[in-house]
Amino acid sequence: MDVKREQFVKRVSEPVPGGTPVEKAPDPELGYALIPAERYTSKEFMQLEWERLWTKVWLLGGRSDDIPEAGDYICTNIGKESVLLVRQRDGSVAGFYNICLHRGNRLVPEEGLGSVKDKDGVFRCSYHHWAYSPKGKLLHVPDRETFPQGAPPCGRVRPIKVEEWGSFVWFSLNPEAEPLRDYLGVIPEHLDPYHMERMAWTRDVTVEWDCNWKASVDAFSETYHVQGIHPQLKWYLDDVNVQYDCYDKHNRYLIPFAAVSPRVSLPSIMPPLFAGMMEAAGMDPAEYEGRIDGVREALQKFKRENGAAQGKDYSALNDDQLTDDYHYTIFPNVSLNVHSDDVMMFRQRPHPTDPNKMLYDIWMFELVPEGEKWPERVPHQHFRHGDKTIGQVLDQDAFNLPHVQAGMNSEAFEGLWIGDQEIRLRHFHKTLGDYLYGHNGPGEGDI
Ligand code: FES
Ligand SMILES: [Fe+2]
Repeated sequence: MDVKREQFVKRVSEPVPGGTPVEKAPDPELGYALIPAERYTSKEFMQLEWERLWTKVWLLGGRSDDIPEAGDYICTNIGKESVLLVRQRDGSVAGFYNICLHRGNRLVPEEGLGSVKDKDGVFRCSYHHWAYSPKGKLLHVPDRETFPQGAPPCGRVRPIKVEEWGSFVWFSLNPEAEPLRDYLGVIPEHLDPYHMERMAWTRDVTVEWDCNWKASVDAFSETYHVQGIHPQLKWYLDDVNVQYDCYDKHNRYLIPFAAVSPRVSLPSIMPPLFAGMMEAAGMDPAEYEGRIDGVREALQKFKRENGAAQGKDYSALNDDQLTDDYHYTIFPNVSLNVHSDDVMMFRQRPHPTDPNKMLYDIWMFELVPEGEKWPERVPHQHFRHGDKTIGQVLDQDAFNLPHVQAGMNSEAFEGLWIGDQEIRLRHFHKTLGDYLYGHNGPGEGDI
């Protein structure tokens, strides 16, 4: 069934965490121009992104509760750089480049979690054993007298900015970066009510994908592709009546879950995915006697009435947030599917040198009911696309993306022809352009 244009709910305005959608035309400032394919394929553009984007913005580094004690650290990479984010004695987190001042060795060879508690309280470079404090200060040079020029005068590895918000650790390679809260804009106001600090890891996966990092951000920024590659979801969510909001840098859409797409007729029996949602909430689908299109509201009512008894405090959330997918892009590379009981987030990272490759991190968290034991942290997994399944829906997205990237590299493909349902892609590219070229956008000869 084709959907009429006016059925789409478009909104590109007020920062209201919940509430009633207001219909508005898309922001005409975003225009209708083709988005050049070279943004996804060119090495020069990739280099520009490195100089003017990745080294300027705030980036997601890891999870706060992974480094609870002084000396615990997260080692994470962005492009060609690797950084160490280390819990300090005063409870703050300090960050510095993961390099040794002697001959450049990485102080920690691999991404992951660790603690200097097991290493005499220092980062000791494995090559010649130069030692650094948990703040990155150079503490010891073996055979120091054999360096007549002395130790490097800086005395420490170059620091980076680190802040915490939302149970996550963030960092910026930009010494001039604004405070994290200013960068995040409306995001904390919108997401604090979910209390992500009450959620525990359920999945921590990194997959190597053969596409540009933006192709992945795009894939999670519109529901237009649901009828294309996720046809089964038409009996799970409403891919048409979606509210879009574009803020300063970031954007979101709100997708009704436990809803049937207007592209198909209302089924007479309960769709299995609806039943699954009811069971997850503690309802018995066999006992439900209402209409299929009443399930979403029934779920909201049930969760509102029974949440507290289940140890789940939903008091800061509106009714829609009890069922729906509030999906945010925290510019540039974090996509979050936020739900009342879980969060599924993706961190999309560029390959150090190849615009046709990326790292796709899947981080999933689930609300731990009050009084229940905090579960063990899940181990991190790293594999290549296709080596393992990442779940049916994400497999469908993942299968598609290398082909998108291949097509974008064709000389016959000039650029992305974006429609209203893809307004977040346009907004994303506008923000990207602001970082790369300033507010006047690309000039003559720019991509
Ligand atoms: S490279 Fe680190 S001690 Fe030599
Ligand atoms: Fe998808």
